[in-house]
Parts: sequence; structure tokens; C-alpha cells
Amino acid sequence: MKKLKFRTPKGMHDILPAEQIYYQKVYKTVSEIADFYGFGKIDTPILEETELFSKGVGVATDIIKKEMYNLKTKGGDCLSLRPEGTAPVVRAYIENGMSSMPHPVKVWYFGPFFRYENPQFGRYRQFWQFGFEVLGEGGSIVDAQIIQIFYEILKELKLKNLVVNINSLGCSQRRPYYKKILTSYFKTRISSLCGNCRRRLQENVLRILDCKEEKCQAVKEGAPQTLDHLCEECRLHFREVLEFLDEIEIPYNLDPYLVRGLDYYTRTVFEVFSQDQEQGGSQVALGGGGRYDKLVKLLGGRDIPGIGMAGGVERIINLMKSQGLEISNENKARIFLAQLGNLAKRKSLKLLKEFRKAKIKVLESFGRDSLKSQLGRANRLGAEYALIIGQKEALEDSVIIRNMENGHQETVKLDKAVEAVKKKMRKSH
Ligand code: HAM
Repeated sequence: MKKLKFRTPKGMHDILPAEQIYYQKVYKTVSEIADFYGFGKIDTPILEETELFSKGVGVATDIIKKEMYNLKTKGGDCLSLRPEGTAPVVRAYIENGMSSMPHPVKVWYFGPFFRYENPQFGRYRQFWQFGFEVLGEGGSIVDAQIIQIFYEILKELKLKNLVVNINSLGCSQRRPYYKKILTSYFKTRISSLCGNCRRRLQENVLRILDCKEEKCQAVKEGAPQTLDHLCEECRLHFREVLEFLDEIEIPYNLDPYLVRGLDYYTRTVFEVFSQDQEQGGSQVALGGGGRYDKLVKLLGGRDIPGIGMAGGVERIINLMKSQGLEISNENKARIFLAQLGNLAKRKSLKLLKEFRKAKIKVLESFGRDSLKSQLGRANRLGAEYALIIGQKEALEDSVIIRNMENGHQETVKLDKAVEAVKKKMRKSH
């Protein structure tokens, strides 16, 4: 066989028509819930200035060091394919003067993101995320509400056995001190750390807590925990978040090693998993998020708090499939239009237009000429009614409406066809 010349780039995939219903289902669920909770939709460009991410996400993170798609334009601008949505939303908030809008400003998004990662099940180089961001509200209730929104989306999609892993990283005041004691803890055990973590010890010590290497597990266990080093306000804030979660009955695990892979987080961080799914050997998060109370200021805006989360659409769809969740194509056509001869074809186009105006979906197979093969297709598609314009009907401006189940037929004038079909559909449902 001849070798295929062109393929999708590594780690990227086509979303074929059969797959689209899953994406549409997720989109519809997310948009309805976003609307209920008062979030407005925002779209930001796929490309942003590279510096937005290096500054916002952090130069020492894996995302910036290894996973960015960077390019230089002909004009000399350094741009990157967006690896995440929070920094762009904050940029848009500042740039568009949204700080003069009533606060909190609540926005949501849904779109493709790019990370140059090693592709494996549930990890791609182009993937879809939906996200929610709340700017200008620091209260613990919003932390719980963001988690609740994500949880409700997953529940609405009928996903089971979900659990939230949660931690608090504290505020930026205590961070330098915590990093210092963490560094001295790991320094004395450096020979027991993996190569990556030795590098992290210099650049981003918090990330050692997140390391999945077996070698580092034992060392991690004795490490100082963020929760033991919170200031009074952060401790209270976190306690309230957990109390809210108890109140709304969202199951959670305290995970002292959860630090997340982006540097902008302060206080609450969380990730949501399915307990019964291991994708590609290790557990992958369906989504995650947290507070970023210093990010708006860092990117040049006012000193206001922020919180948000993002869900991985492919991972959610993989789980929907592995939990056996069938989704029906709600927009399935119940009517099939069959024609015989040139004049009938011409009348068919006009008739289709009338049905479109009436918002009744009609399928056809204009490439086929035999009536038998067209009706065979109508049967296979599960159509309830076939509209048949034969040569005689075309001349008489009429159409046969055939009940595909019992074979009953009725002939009506072409201009009465929509009404007649509507009546029959009402009766049969
Ligand atoms: P993140 O944890 O980097 O957070 O990504 C959120 C979710 O996107 C992940 O939990 C995962 O489901 C999905 N995801 C990430 N990378 C990949 C990949 N390579 N392939 C497939 N799915 C992936 C953020 O991006 C933050 N901006 C979330 C946030 C919003 N925090 C505050 N506001």
C-alpha cells in the first residue's frame, strides 16, 4: 500500500463528524451552566505575546520551559500558541478596561490550546479546554462555587466516581519562607532525588512535591507541608472553603502535595479526578484550577484577586466513553426526501428550502436515481417518513408522504407538504 503522505502533526487529531456530538454535548452543558451562574463568554486569540505566558505562568514551569509553541512573525514579534487560558483572560480584562465593569467580572471560554508534550492517552499537543474565571472577588465562597460549577458540569454529563483533590498554597507573603525551608529539606536529601527534581531544587522547588517519580516519593513524605505554614487568614480562608464543600456534599481529599504546574496560584488549588479511571497508567486530571490573587497586578492591572478553573474536553470525553455513556444525536432527521427524474430533482431543492424554514430536518440522497435504493437508505437512516416526488408528482406539483413503518401513503400538494408532515409528526409523538 502507498504510504500516506500527509498526517496530522504529532499529538494532534481531527474531530470527525461522529465525534462531534461529544464535543457538542460538552459545549452545550458548559454553556448552559455558565449562563445560569452569570458568566459571559469570552474568546481570546490563539496567539499571544510569548512574554504574557512567561510572565504569567512562570519562566521556570514545564509549560514555559518545554511545552510552548513559539514563533517569530515576519514583523519580528515573538508570539506563542496559547498553552492555557487564564493569562489571556487577564490580559483581555486589563486591555479592554473591564475593570470599570461591575465586579466580580465572570467569564468562560471553550477552545483549543497547545502544549508541546509527549503525546499519550489523555495528553495531546492540541487539546480543548473549557474554563471559568472570576476576577475581583476574594471570598472563600467563590472558591467553593468554582469547584461546584465544575463538579456540576461533570455530573450533568453523567460522569461517576469523581473526587476533588484540594490544597492551599497560602499567600505570597509566606511563600518565600516556605520555599526556603522546603529547599533546605530537599538539599540535605539531594542524592535521593531524581535528575529532574535536582534541577527543580534550583528553579522551582514547589514542583518537587508534584513529582511522580518513584524515587522521590519517600523523600516527599517527610517534607514540610504548605498547610502547616499558612498565615492565619489563609488558614481561615481554606477552612471556610472546605466547610462550603461539606455543605454542598462535594467529596474531596486533602492533598498536601498538590501544587499545580503554573506559578500564578495563591491559596486554594484543586484538581478533579475520576476514581475509576487510569489513563495510560497514571491518573490524569479531568480539570483543575485555583486562586491567582496576584496575577492581575503582575500583568499590569489593579491589585485584585482572581480564581478559576479549566477542564480538559478530550479527557472528559474519554471518560464518558469508558463509563459507557451513550449520547443520542438529538437533532436526528425523521424525514427523508426521495426523487425520480430531473424535474423532481428541481422541485426537491425548493421543497427542502421550505422544510428548512420550518426547522424540520430532511435528509436526501440526490446522487442516487433509483427509488428503491433511496428508500433503502431512508430505512437505514431510521426515517419515519419518506417524501417521494416521482415523475407524475413532479408534473402535478404534488408529493407522496410515506409512513416508513407501515407503508401507508398519502399524496398532498407540494405547497401543503410542510403542514401535512408537521401534523403527522405531532400525531406520532
Ligand atoms: P491545567 O491544569 O494546566 O490548568 O489544565 C487544565 C486541564 O486541561 C487539565 O486538568 C487537563 O484536563 C487539560 N489538559 C492540560 N494539558 C493537556 C494536554 N496536553 N492534553 C489534554 N488535556 C490537557 C490550566 O490550564 C489553568 N489555566 C486552569 C485555571 C483556570 N486556573 C485558574 N483558572
